[in-house]
Amino acid sequence: MTQGTGTLGSGGGDLPIVLGFETSCDETGIGIVRGTELLADAVATSVDEHARFGGVVPEVASRAHLEAMVPTVHRALETAGLKLSDVDAIAVTAGPGLAGALLVGVAAAKGYALALDKPLYGVNHLAAHVAVDQLEHGPLPEPCLALLVSGGHSSLLLVPDVTSDIRPLGSTVDDAAGEAFDKVARVLGLGFPGGPLIDRAAREGDGAAIAFPRGLTGPNDAPFDFSFSGLKTAVARWVEARERAGEPVPIADVAASFQEAVVDVLTRKAIRACKENGVDHLLIGGGVAANSRLRALAEERAADQGIRVRVPRPKLCTDNGAMVAALGSELVARGVRPSPLDLPADSSMLITEVLV
Ligand code: KG4
Ligand code: ZN
Repeated sequence: MTQGTGTLGSGGGDLPIVLGFETSCDETGIGIVRGTELLADAVATSVDEHARFGGVVPEVASRAHLEAMVPTVHRALETAGLKLSDVDAIAVTAGPGLAGALLVGVAAAKGYALALDKPLYGVNHLAAHVAVDQLEHGPLPEPCLALLVSGGHSSLLLVPDVTSDIRPLGSTVDDAAGEAFDKVARVLGLGFPGGPLIDRAAREGDGAAIAFPRGLTGPNDAPFDFSFSGLKTAVARWVEARERAGEPVPIADVAASFQEAVVDVLTRKAIRACKENGVDHLLIGGGVAANSRLRALAEERAADQGIRVRVPRPKLCTDNGAMVAALGSELVARGVRPSPLDLPADSSMLITEVLV
């Protein structure tokens, strides 16, 4: 096995400068961080190319990463006012994610690390979603509880140490939360990605109008796992029944009631996980963290229990390179040994593995 041989330099500032690569899904994200200071967060997305399919097409995403990679690196460097030679370390998402998409980022990051002779850190995408909050709200309280909800994941994690000790408490057994938003938006004819469109439509509707099911909330169900597939089907059936009866579909009420069912379950389980583990900080990340009702209900329920909620700003919640650089920077700060230069991309990387 070949070890990354690069050494840390001064980088022109006091703290090392870390360049982060994110390509696990449809965003080509390049971030630059110095310590916990965000210097650049350049993102190129292929979301429009997937819109007509109603979901991300892996092959299309991989090709888009290949085209966007070098221009996005240049854009990030320009924003930060840096040259490539100023970079002290490189971090890249090694998994989990779409295999072909990950390969593009990992191959690119290896190329830069080798050419610059700098250390390379192959990191876990979910851990990066947690670490990014340091760029906005300062050092993470340890332990904290993280609720990660996006188009690809829905997880509850206990985080004693974001660089080395992340414990999964539960995750979705079927669809991810964002996936449910996207599928229900399609049923309602709202477009893709569905989350922001449902969020907007729901503002005009009544969340208590229709009693949609709350998955896995029975006394014998796994307390921290999620299931959104039954909810999605229930919404589709409800809409179909209306259409068959020749009645208009109250889009705003359906959107609001669906959204309420999702955020009710997410917040209830997250708060319970905090209480059972004696944790008083809840971090919410992933694209669905941008949801206005999720943020409001989490704040309300957490305040009742003396729990503090941390949510990074929306651009740091969705997939980006800054989160990868943030985790890389923390690993560098703690003197953790870098990854070998033959590190693999692992589409099903477990959260218990923070660094390859
Ligand atoms: O983290 P992300 O950019 O990519 C991954 O899936 O990893 O998350 C995208 C997901 C999509 O499913 C999108 O519909 C959802 O996040 N989303 C939202 C909102 N904004 C984005 N879901 C609910 N409410 C929103 N405001
Ligand atoms: Zn993500």
